[in-house]
Amino acid sequence: MSYVRLVNVTKKFGDVTAVNSLNLEIGKGECFSMLGPSGCGKTTTLRMVAGFEDLSEGEIYVGDRLISSPKRNFYLPPEKRNFGMVFQAFAVWPHLSVYENVAFPLRIRKLPAAEVEKRTQDALRSTNLLKVAEDSPADLSGGGKQRVALARALAINPDVMLLDEPLSSLDPHLREEMRFEIKDLQRKYGFSIIYVTHDQSEAMALSDRILVMRSGVVQQIDTPLNVYNQPANKFVFSFIGLSNFLDIVWEDGRAFVRGEHAALPASLMPPESMRGEDVLSLASRPSEIDFITEGDEQGLRGILSRKAFLGEIIDYQVKIGDQEMRVQKGRRDPGPELGEACNLRLLRPFWYAGE
Ligand SMILES: Nc1ncnc2c1ncn2[C@@H]1O[C@H](COP(=O)(O)OP(=O)(O)O)[C@@H](O)[C@H]1O
Ligand SMILES: [Mg+2]
Repeated sequence: MSYVRLVNVTKKFGDVTAVNSLNLEIGKGECFSMLGPSGCGKTTTLRMVAGFEDLSEGEIYVGDRLISSPKRNFYLPPEKRNFGMVFQAFAVWPHLSVYENVAFPLRIRKLPAAEVEKRTQDALRSTNLLKVAEDSPADLSGGGKQRVALARALAINPDVMLLDEPLSSLDPHLREEMRFEIKDLQRKYGFSIIYVTHDQSEAMALSDRILVMRSGVVQQIDTPLNVYNQPANKFVFSFIGLSNFLDIVWEDGRAFVRGEHAALPASLMPPESMRGEDVLSLASRPSEIDFITEGDEQGLRGILSRKAFLGEIIDYQVKIGDQEMRVQKGRRDPGPELGEACNLRLLRPFWYAGE
C-alpha cells in the first residue's frame, strides 16, 4: 500500500532539470533506496520530500494528505511532516551534550518534560549512546556522531526516515555494521525509509526496492534482485554489480567481437530485433562466465592477460579481439594461466543496441 506518493515531480534549477517527472509510491514500513551517480538528482528529490525545496511541477502526498503542490501553492512546512532526517555531514550541535542534541527537537515541539525524557532515553538506548549521554558529540568518532543524528531523528518518532548518504563518511567496516543497525531500528520503530546512496552494495543490502536514477530520470524501480538480474537498460546493468561489455559489429551478415576475426558462435547470436544495428553491446557479469574446453565450438576465444588473486576469488582478465573481459572464479576452480588461450561461455548474455 502506498504511503509516500510523488506524482510527476519535477525540479528545475535554471536550465538544469535536476529531477524530471518522477512518479513514485513508497509503502508504509518499506525501505526504499534511491541510487545513482553523483548529480543525478537524489538529494534534490529527498529535499523536496522533506519540504526544504519547493517543486517546479507535480505533487507529493503522505497517505491521503497533500504536502507539496506548486499548482495549489501549498507546502506543509518541514517540521509538520514528521519526518526524521540524517545527512552525510555530521549535523550535530557540538555545544550541546549528546542528550540535549536528541532532546532539543522534542523541546521545540513543546512535548511534556516526562515525554521528552522518555523518548530521549529510548532513542539513546536504541543507538547505544546512553553511556556517552553527557559527553559532547564533538568527542565522538564519526560513527558516534552519526548515531547521535540518528537518535535525534528517532526521538520524534517519525513516520518516514529520510537518509541522505548517512554512512558515506564512515570507514567501510563501520558502514556495514551501521546498515544492520538502521534495519534493526526500522524493525523496532516501524518507520518507512527513503535512503539515498551512490553505493550499490549499500542499496542492495538495505532495500525492499531500489530506484536507479540517471540525470534526473528514473531508469528502473524494482527489488534488488530484479534490478540485478533483469536490468532495464545498459546503464542499470553497468551501475549495479560488476559488468563486462563487448562491442559487437556486423560484417556480411555475421556478428564479430570488434577486432576479432572469428564470427560469434551460434549460441551467442544477438536477438532478431537487434540485427539491423551497426554496433551492439554484449553484456555479461564476471561471475556468470565459465571457462570451457578448448575444443568447444560454442565458446568465445581469448588470451588470459591478467590474473589477480583476491582471496576466495580469482579475478581473470581475458583479451578478446581488441577488448577485455573480466571473469571471476572461486580459487578452487580450475582456470588458465597468464598468456594461455582460453574459451569462455557466457551463462547469461545480455544484448544492448549501440556501444
Ligand atoms: N541549489 C541548487 N542550485 C542549482 N543547481 C542545483 C542546486 N542543487 C542541485 N543542483 C543541481 O541539480 C542536479 C542534481 O543535484 P543533486 O540532487 O544534489 O544530485 P545527487 O544528490 O544525486 O548527487 C545537479 O546537476 C546539481 O548541480
Ligand atoms: Mg546528494
